[in-house]
Amino acid sequence: MTRTVVLAGTSGYGATYVREIAQLEARGSVRLVGLCDVRPLDSAVSRQFGDRPFDSRLDHLLAATCPDLAIVAGPIHTHLPLGRQVLSADCHLLLEKPPASSAAEWREVLTLARQKSLSCQVGFQSLGSRAYSRLAELIATGRLGSVRGIGCYGAWSRDAAYYQRADWAGRRYLDGVPVADGALTNPFAHAVATALALDHSTGWDDITDIDTELLRVRDIEADDTSCLRLRTRHNTVITVAVTLAAQTPLEPVIVVHGTRGRAELHYTRDLLVVDGQPEHHGRISPLENLLAHLDDGAPLQCDIAECGAFTRVLEHVNAAPAPRLISERWLAHEGDGSEERIHIPGIEQAVRASAEQLATFSGLGEPWAL
Ligand SMILES: NC(=O)c1ccc[n+]([C@@H]2O[C@H](COP(=O)([O-])OP(=O)(O)OC[C@H]3O[C@@H](n4cnc5c(N)ncnc54)[C@H](O)[C@@H]3O)[C@@H](O)[C@H]2O)c1
Repeated sequence: MTRTVVLAGTSGYGATYVREIAQLEARGSVRLVGLCDVRPLDSAVSRQFGDRPFDSRLDHLLAATCPDLAIVAGPIHTHLPLGRQVLSADCHLLLEKPPASSAAEWREVLTLARQKSLSCQVGFQSLGSRAYSRLAELIATGRLGSVRGIGCYGAWSRDAAYYQRADWAGRRYLDGVPVADGALTNPFAHAVATALALDHSTGWDDITDIDTELLRVRDIEADDTSCLRLRTRHNTVITVAVTLAAQTPLEPVIVVHGTRGRAELHYTRDLLVVDGQPEHHGRISPLENLLAHLDDGAPLQCDIAECGAFTRVLEHVNAAPAPRLISERWLAHEGDGSEERIHIPGIEQAVRASAEQLATFSGLGEPWAL
């Protein structure tokens, strides 16, 4: 069946959807009936889809095109207003991650979707990886023994231009509205959501205790170097230690420590390493999965209802005391202007150690965190 679709937010991460929609159109699974953006389409999107209806107002576009579903890939603080317009127009919704920038906003989208009996998929694409479902299977069948804890780490490097690209970049709030663009809640949000899902702790009440260490190397409002340590109702300890100030970037990894085995999920690479043995897997995208859900009733990879615990972490992080600026004595600088990068020498070892020992930065005695 060919589903009609509208895309809101066409550049930045939205460009990924432009490419995917072009492929799915070629296969006959979708037909793009409209594009929405507050900026003119960039040249690549114009070349591909310049013949389709375009509007800077999503509600107008939805009224004119009546699509089956709409994808919202705008900035985080647009998710509620745009998502509300999609659901109010009786369309299914694919909402980029994080689904909302506060608990109240998450509840509002969830309630509206339920009231209207519409599907709302969240774009946590790591949950569509076969490497993730295989790991979930290994845990469920006891292959790893009982899970002692789940430690996640990731170390990326972002230059000054990353924070200059949009007014919401690195903000906790923009004009009084929550944005929650910190390392834990946005770039590494997949690590948080995936670890919680592996523990079957996706509900708001599934977390019993949360501790965060929020730090920053830049003149931003949100955190860029952070550690989260929480306990779930299954008594599992989950840690997530991440930075955007790495010298040698490391792709994120989720380490499951079992009493009988150890598994590493490299979720950006669909790679699972079980007791040292690598397994490469494929993935189904959030959009393909939503189409299968609508056509055949396949379970959603990430129903917005399953984002309660994640949203609780997001709300906790965004409301915690302001991230502390790491002293210059622990930092190194490279390049200047928009290309400037700031590193914390040794951060790569620290995030790995956190995942191994399920410890926070200060628990590890990292001097820049004390
Ligand atoms: N799933 C992933 O791996 C992944 C990766 C990166 C970003 N993201 C998510 O994608 C979303 C967009 O992030 P980004 O960095 O591309 O943002 P961005 O600021 O680059 O904006 C994306 C697009 O949305 C448009 N836009 C802004 N306000 C709009 C509005 N009111 N109506 C319609 N369009 C609007 C912008 O003009 C731009 O074209 C965020 O939720 C982000 O967290 C997801």
